[in-house]
Amino acid sequence: MDQIAYVNGSFVPLAEAKVSILDRGFLFADGIYEVAAVLDGRLVDNASHLARLKRSVGEISLALPETLERIAEIQKELVARNQLVNGMVYLEVTRGADKVRDFAFPKGIAPTLIMFTTVKDIVNAPSAKTGIGVMTVPDLRWTRRDIKSVALLAQVLAKQAAAEAGAGEAWMIEDGKVTEGGSSSAFILTRDDVLVTRQNGSEILPGCTRKAVVALAEERQLRVEERAFSVEEALAAKEAFITSATLFVQPVISIDGKMIANGKPGPMTNRLREIYVDFARATAV
Ligand code: PDD
Repeated sequence: MDQIAYVNGSFVPLAEAKVSILDRGFLFADGIYEVAAVLDGRLVDNASHLARLKRSVGEISLALPETLERIAEIQKELVARNQLVNGMVYLEVTRGADKVRDFAFPKGIAPTLIMFTTVKDIVNAPSAKTGIGVMTVPDLRWTRRDIKSVALLAQVLAKQAAAEAGAGEAWMIEDGKVTEGGSSSAFILTRDDVLVTRQNGSEILPGCTRKAVVALAEERQLRVEERAFSVEEALAAKEAFITSATLFVQPVISIDGKMIANGKPGPMTNRLREIYVDFARATAV
């Protein structure tokens, strides 16, 4: 079966899904994206992703071409058309294609909205059992990382450097502290069993999975501190993990080749992963 994508009102085979070379997403990275997981054919925590989409487009004065309700319908139709069981839906909205390349916003141009799906068995991913190593890199991004912009070059370079070093993710460092992963939120569990993750603000993306994990941990009386932490603190921690829509909760077992604790996924991380998977199944729509 040909994979089906969505482009500006039409469902088309992926190979025919095209946008203009003058699209501002292509020319200026003038666009916003979201990635929502699909479990058993249903979207995980999608209301949270759509709320962040609304906020991100608002921050760059980009009007969505469809209502959030309609966008959710299109996501679901795409999942159904692709008979997707486990994986994710990627969606991107850009400021559209003008007739010329002009930095300032064009007038009277319709935004571009595209979506496609990817197959991935997130729950049974082998790296969730083994854990991953992370590599630290300087955080080279702009200062509005709270906006889920498609300008991802700094993350591309960070994740490529990590991949070349055999690491599963990059942890980006600014002023001696971890901001977040190249495409994930970073957590540690301290020696006194406090879960620490950086506070939201313009320095990081407000992760949807991060938000759910913090809430689920607090409901279970785990102490959570939202603050910055250093690599030294992470190396002295009991456990570490990352979260994202495409990984859920994933153990981190080393940083720059140095083991965290015994170099194995920690019990609290494994427990939080189970709790998150249960939450995802119970709330998916
Ligand atoms: N990335 N931080 C960054 C920089 C991210 O790119 C992401 C997600 C996250 C986690 O956010 P969430 O839990 O809402 O997925 C944190 C997506 C998955 C991506 O770029 O593919």
